[in-house]
Amino acid sequence: MSEKLRDRVAIITGARGDLGQAIARHFMAEGAKVCLVDLHAPETEDTNDMMALSCDVTDPEAVEATVAATVKRFGRLDIVVNNAAAEARTGKICDLPVDAWLHTLNVNLNGAYFVSRAALPHLRETKGVILNIASQLGHVTAKGHAAYSASKAGLLSLTRTLALDHASEGIRAVSLSPGAVMTDRLIRRAGSEEQVLADHGPRHPIGRIGTPDEIGAMAAFLVSDDAAFITGSDLLADGGYTLK
Ligand SMILES: NC(=O)c1ccc[n+]([C@@H]2O[C@H](COP(=O)([O-])OP(=O)(O)OC[C@H]3O[C@@H](n4cnc5c(N)ncnc54)[C@H](O)[C@@H]3O)[C@@H](O)[C@H]2O)c1
Repeated sequence: MSEKLRDRVAIITGARGDLGQAIARHFMAEGAKVCLVDLHAPETEDTNDMMALSCDVTDPEAVEATVAATVKRFGRLDIVVNNAAAEARTGKICDLPVDAWLHTLNVNLNGAYFVSRAALPHLRETKGVILNIASQLGHVTAKGHAAYSASKAGLLSLTRTLALDHASEGIRAVSLSPGAVMTDRLIRRAGSEEQVLADHGPRHPIGRIGTPDEIGAMAAFLVSDDAAFITGSDLLADGGYTLK
């Protein structure tokens, strides 16, 4: 590895999930220090390069405390990855309970806003980066996915405004939109890896779904100086899902 992120400090939300873990692995392999954040802190060793905190991203005060604790521990903050997502309920809009809609929007979109807002004063000092993990379903939609799709489309828009508002301060904001990735999230829903492949594989023209490591590597690129001229844009990593 090239140590592209040497000594940079990153907060990664939703870090118990497969994609959060892969992003953390790739960041650390590039030399970053990471604070892993989830509703219940991931079980990891507390080391010089890694800490874990419990935080609900929908609680602005808890988010402020988490950002402050990270800066206190590591002395700076360079990178925020808004990766946390709710287990979104699906169903036709007329059947979707109001609280399910609100919860999905609250975690996926409001949570990213709260974390970004709390981090910006620190990112200003380091000319840092915000990476929002969106989805191909922020670009297109699927039957029954109103809340998830709207939350991810909102994240794409939030990314663009963050980029515009803070470009003159040297802060970048980017998003990454994966297609289906082989993760526990999808296996839980489908029941088995085989069923995930049967359900999602044919929808991806490239003939397969993604791997967490592919997403982790793309995330590390986007927050590194190799991507210094990229801001406000989305990297759609969906194996061609949205081409049709
Ligand atoms: N897995 C895929 O195929 C896929 C595809 C496209 C986009 N994505 C996106 O990638 C991201 C990660 O996906 P994953 O597959 O690892 O999902 P996951 O469900 O395994 O992980 C999401 C994590 O967010 C945490 N979380 C939920 N609510 C929270 C809250 N209020 N505060 C803090 N943390 C909270 C959960 O505890 C969980 O650990 C999500 O944003 C998801 O929408 C995933």
